[in-house]
Formats: sequence, structure tokens, C-alpha cells
Amino acid sequence: MCGIVGYIGTKKACPILLAGLSRLEYRGYDSAGVSTIEKDELSLMKDKGRVKNLSNLDGIDKLEGTIGIAHTRWATHGKPSKENSHPHQDNSKTFSVVHNGIIENYNELRNFLLDNGYTFYSQTDTEVIPNLIHYHYTKDTQNDDLKFLRAVKNACLEFKGSFAIEVISKLYPDNMIVVRQDSPLVIGTCEDEKYLSSDIPAILSYTRDFYLLNDLEFVVLTNTTAKFYDKNLNEIEKQTQNIEWNACSAEKDGFDDFMLKEIYEQPTAIRETIGSKISLNTKCEFDELGFTKDYLSNLNKIYIVACGTAMHAGLSGKNAIEKLCRIPVEVDIASEFRYRDPIIDEKTLCIFISQSGETADTIAALKLSKEKKAKTLAISNVIGSSITREADYSIYTHAGPEIAVASTKAYTSQVMLINILAIYFAEVLETCTTSYLNELKKDILELPKKIEETLKCNESIKNFAKQIYQEKDVFFLGRGIDETVAREASLKLKEISYIHSDSYAAGELKHGPIALIENDITVISILTDANLIKKTVSNIQEVITRGAKTLIVTNKEIDNSMFNFVINIPDTNCFISPILSIIPLQLLAYYISKEKGLDVDKPRNLAKSVTVE
Ligand code: G6P
Repeated sequence: MCGIVGYIGTKKACPILLAGLSRLEYRGYDSAGVSTIEKDELSLMKDKGRVKNLSNLDGIDKLEGTIGIAHTRWATHGKPSKENSHPHQDNSKTFSVVHNGIIENYNELRNFLLDNGYTFYSQTDTEVIPNLIHYHYTKDTQNDDLKFLRAVKNACLEFKGSFAIEVISKLYPDNMIVVRQDSPLVIGTCEDEKYLSSDIPAILSYTRDFYLLNDLEFVVLTNTTAKFYDKNLNEIEKQTQNIEWNACSAEKDGFDDFMLKEIYEQPTAIRETIGSKISLNTKCEFDELGFTKDYLSNLNKIYIVACGTAMHAGLSGKNAIEKLCRIPVEVDIASEFRYRDPIIDEKTLCIFISQSGETADTIAALKLSKEKKAKTLAISNVIGSSITREADYSIYTHAGPEIAVASTKAYTSQVMLINILAIYFAEVLETCTTSYLNELKKDILELPKKIEETLKCNESIKNFAKQIYQEKDVFFLGRGIDETVAREASLKLKEISYIHSDSYAAGELKHGPIALIENDITVISILTDANLIKKTVSNIQEVITRGAKTLIVTNKEIDNSMFNFVINIPDTNCFISPILSIIPLQLLAYYISKEKGLDVDKPRNLAKSVTVE
């Protein structure tokens, strides 16, 4: 939700800021703005709409300043408009601020500032930030080197909620101050330049050395230095981290859209996620975990908590852990989990899945589990992200940066990693025979090749998309593991094609939803579990009888004649079949969206990283 970038260095800041914003547009794209320091004055340019509107504003190419901040917005408080766009300034135009997050007590602070003579020009929560900084700055009677920092710190300690903030001031033309709490912000560093961003990929082309900030660490930047302070303004030491991703992986590489590129990156993403963890006849390696048989066998429950697509990956994890390890697993949506007083104690293991590692609800659920004494394990795609810093243990998918809002390679990598985790648990617990697990490992090692094979359905799917792109409703059916894929496929379609779709456990259809089936409606079913195929086929028969047209994704030999369209995918173990069966359905959502002429990578109203509740 909202992307922020910053630059302090030797080059003109504005072009660098605009390029960074374009890469962060997936985080929000209803308005954008930039502020730089121009000869001891603050420039401020902003507009409603996409970053390209901002780039076309008169005079933006005249900005010469070498220090600046910029923002692309996903509205929370106040509709998208020029007034509500960031950066925001205090009344005296001394401080410019960009902010990602929500100041929950902004009403209270606004009233306080109104009583103290300040005026507000927007409906945003953010406008209290520069004004409160100004308030503290003018109240401070000391005139030492830390005055600017103290004003930012005193303001921030009054905020409730989440924030990643960059502040510049015309009084300090060589400095920028940044801080975060529960919202992402990274600092890329080179010899005489500092790049700031809500995420790593946006600035990967400039540096691979990053400072990762903890909550309420204040940073004072010049182009050559970065000084870190805790909330009592004691100076602290911080090391840079080297990030392996390369800049190319954050570009489109000849594909029309990031989503299509990311679908095609799945063989690599899965290969990298498997890494050296799986090999035949040797036990799974998870050096970072070290769980004992005693600990795992005493667990009363595992919770898997996540949002959106990551939650769907969690459902396949439940299937694998319960079947391989015989530990009860509950999967919960983070926003529900945190408010339902979940039954957790030291015998509960809570696993949190988040591609970005920055999803506000998932982070809050993790903090709650820690308070209740559970051990916490984070699964993320982003090294150093918030959930990985909060959790007791962290393991990583290696999908590389995922830019398209609709998640594809992150999902399949999460399914992969959680299955590997289930094997690791089963090996520690000795709940399965070595030969059984070896069969599964063999299938895992063959997956990257089978994904390449599956991707060959591209043209057939494109044709099917042409036939159904104008539909109003689409249904997805499955049983067992296939039902989890039906949910994810339905979400993909909704997200980027704006077609209403729903997914159902195939056996549940007759208990209500079948009333919605009418002539020519599209029903898509996934059939990969040999034990359940006959049952699901009977349910599909019920919709065919009522006039539905059917698309089947299957890895088994079935009688094709009764269906309108069949996509055959390679056979594999049921636990990991979602990694293959989702691919045609990711492509289907993609091509339907293209047929409708929509913006695949940046669907309306959505943001990739949801850092608000
Ligand atoms: C948003 C995105 C989804 C994503 C979900 C969870 O809703 O639009 O694609 O699945 O957040 O994100 P996370 O980064 O926690 O996996």
C-alpha cells in the first residue's frame, strides 16, 4: 500500500525518483508526487493518477536538486486527488514528508495541531506528520546538531499505527531523516549515494548493499553517511546486507507483462526453492530450524496463518503435514485469526506465510502468537522482511522478486517449501518410511522439468480465454488438494479479469451452489487425486446436465469426450500437484485479462503488499 522512494547523492534526484516510483507502482497507483531540495527551498510536485502523469507535469524536468523524496499512493484516508497526494508539507513549507502506513490517532493529533494554530489542506492522516515535526522543532530550545532528528523522533513517538517516513527540510539541505514502524523501508547504499525504497527490487539496479531497519530506528542520511539511532537517540551500529537478486530479475525481459514473465519463471523459482534441501536417500536439510523429535511429537497443533494467495499455499501445507506427520493443522486467514482468541500455548507451532513479509495482518497475528508463547516460523520470499525479523525461525522461498500484483511464482514456491518442511518434520518424527519419502522427493526433483512441460499449454489456454472472456460468472471445482487449487484459481481470475468467480468443494455443490448453474455457464475443475476423480467427475456430470460448459485440468487418463475442453498436465505426487495444476489456470486468468484489455500487472483497487489492516 503506497510506495516510497528517496535519493540523496550527487546526481539529479528527480529522474531517479520517478524511475523508482514506476517500479513501485504495483504498491499503489492512484496518485504520485515528488519533493526535492532546490537551492535551499523545497520543490513540491504532485498529481492524481499514474506516475506518468507526474512525469509529464510542467517544470518537473527543471528540478536540479540532488536530494528528494517521492510517493505513489493507494488511498486510505481521503479520495485520490492532488491535495491528498504525497509529499505533504507543514504550513511553513519547511518540511516535506512521504509516508506509507496509517497514523491511527491522526484525528486526535490533528485537533491538537488545529488548537495550536495549524491549518490542514487535505483529508489525509499523513498531513499531521510534517506539522507535528514542525511543532516539535519550533518548541525545541536547543540548537545543536540533533535538533532536526529530535523533532522527527518526538513526533514519531506520538504516532499510533504504522509508518515508513522520509523527511527532508529546507533548513538541512544535506540531510534526510527516515524511520519505520510496521511498514517497509530499505536503504541501498553506495559510496556517495543513498537510495531509499519500500522494497528492494525498485533500487536493485543501483546497489546490492542494503541497510534493513528495525521498528523505530531513526536514520540520518547524507550522501556519504548513514547514522542510526534508537528511540532514545543513542547511536547504534548497523551492518549492510548483500542481496543476491539481480536487477534483471526485476525487469520484464521481453515479456509483455510481469505476470506472464513470472509465470514462466516458475521452473527456476521451484529449482531455487528446492536448492540443496532435497536429495534422494539423504535427510532434508533445514539447518536454520533444528527441531527435535521431542518438540515436534509434543505439539498439540500447528497453525498456518496467512492472507490471500499465501493462505491458499497454507492449505496445501495442511494436507502435507497432516498426512505425512499426523499433527493436526489449522489454516487461518490472518485478519480473522488475530481477533478470534485462538487457542495457542507453548505446544503450538505457528507458521506464517507471506511473500512480501510485510502484510500487516500477518505480522500482527505473529506477534499475538509470540505473546501466547507459541514458537513462530516465518516463510517469506524477502530476506530481512518484517515477519522474518519477528519470528523465532525463518525459511525462504527463492522465487526472486515478484512484481505483478497477482501472485504466481511466489505461490508455487510457497507450496514447494511447505511440502519440503512437511518432509523434514516427517523425517524428524519418523512417521513415514524412507522409501515412501524417497518417491515423493523424486517427484519434487522432477518438478522443474514438468513445469516446463505444463507451460506448453499456453496456446490452448489462450484460445479458451478467447471463448470465455466475456462471461459474468465462472465456477471452479475440486476435491481434496484440488479444492485448494480451485480457490487459488478463482482468486487469480477475480483479481485480474474482474469476472465474478467462486470455488467450491465439488461435493458441496449440490448443497446450494448448484442453483446458480444455468445454460452455458463455465465450470472449471481440477482432477489430480486418483482416489477422488470418480467422485468429482460425478459432480461435473451434474453441472453438464444443467447446461454448463466444462474445462478440466487433469494429470490422469480420463474419458475426455464428455468435457468441452481438457488440459493434460504431467502426473506427479498429489501433495505437490498444485504446483502444476495451477499453471494453466494462472495463464487463463492472464489471457482473459489481456482479452479484456485490462492492466494485468496493476489490477484496480489492489496492492501487492497490504501494510494496513
Ligand atoms: C495482497 C496481494 C495478494 C497476496 C496477499 C498476501 O492481497 O494482492 O496477491 O497474496 O496480499 O501477501 P503476502 O505478501 O503476505 O504473501
